[in-house]
Amino acid sequence: MKFPAYRGRRMRRTEGLRRLVRETRPSADAHVMPLFAVKGKKVREPIAAMPGIFHLSPELVAEEAQRLFEAGVGAALLFGLASKKDAVASEAESPEGAAQKAVAAIKRRVPEMVVITDVCLCAYTDHGHCGVLSKKGEADNDASLEILARAAVSHARAGADIVAPSDMMDGRVGAIREALDKEGFASVGIMSYAAKYASAFYGPFREAAESAPRSGDRKGYQMDPANIEEALREVAMDIEEGADIVMVKPALAYLDVISEVKRRFGHPTAAYVVSGTYSMVKAAAERGWIDEEAVAREILTSVVRAGADIVITYWAKEAAKWFK
Ligand code: PBG
Repeated sequence: MKFPAYRGRRMRRTEGLRRLVRETRPSADAHVMPLFAVKGKKVREPIAAMPGIFHLSPELVAEEAQRLFEAGVGAALLFGLASKKDAVASEAESPEGAAQKAVAAIKRRVPEMVVITDVCLCAYTDHGHCGVLSKKGEADNDASLEILARAAVSHARAGADIVAPSDMMDGRVGAIREALDKEGFASVGIMSYAAKYASAFYGPFREAAESAPRSGDRKGYQMDPANIEEALREVAMDIEEGADIVMVKPALAYLDVISEVKRRFGHPTAAYVVSGTYSMVKAAAERGWIDEEAVAREILTSVVRAGADIVITYWAKEAAKWFK
């Protein structure tokens, strides 16, 4: 490439030309929309820290899922909120739980919609950690596996296509795979939050899921933001244990991790554009400091450019329009 034979500007002149040589083309069905389910009927409660996102009762989750399906969004990722919390996350595996009810409601209304459920204990434990606690007050890894596996089976029983463990306990993908197979759900998939970092970008979500830890933090089980070699080990282990899709989370400050994971493993790779990213953009846009659509499109494009096949984002419905 040598000037003046090569002029980069030639193919940038018009939108038609730019479109023609565009390398990254995100599509509606690459996007996954997180939804927050609560018990009850006709509940539509805004989440203050996440403008445009709501707590919805199961029948309204199903209505929203239908709109998403019609817009071409690839899947819904369901989070259930607990009506009663305790030390051992009893409601996480209850067939009467908000998540289980919402899955069933979606499957009744739009059976073709792909439904993924988040599997974790933090919304269900009274201490707010992602696993049960040992006497020392640490997340007890091995004791948590059984509960997580039972929660995953309850989601499968309600109709989930894919379960997504986000707890970061070691060995949970294997434990969940084994439990699903034993209970007759060999065809239910696992999307593991494989490289999940202990990130301050989850702040608004913890308000949405009512899942902030009462004391301490999640650094004992989520990853150190400084590490990428470790992320690759986590991903390798989850694939070995049976993960059908591996996820990097957050997406935005971890594009290098997404890129390396996709290149090394060539496995279906998801990336989660988390609550903090969404809320930062919303807040700045509300003040008129940035253009929400332009910034969001740029972020979502960068995640696909980095190598993600699947992008989990609170902008999923808008993205379906933007990337038409
Ligand atoms: C639960 C979970 C979290 C998120 C998804 N599943 C929060 C956390 O680990 O503290 C974050 C999602 C977001 O910020 O959008 N373990």
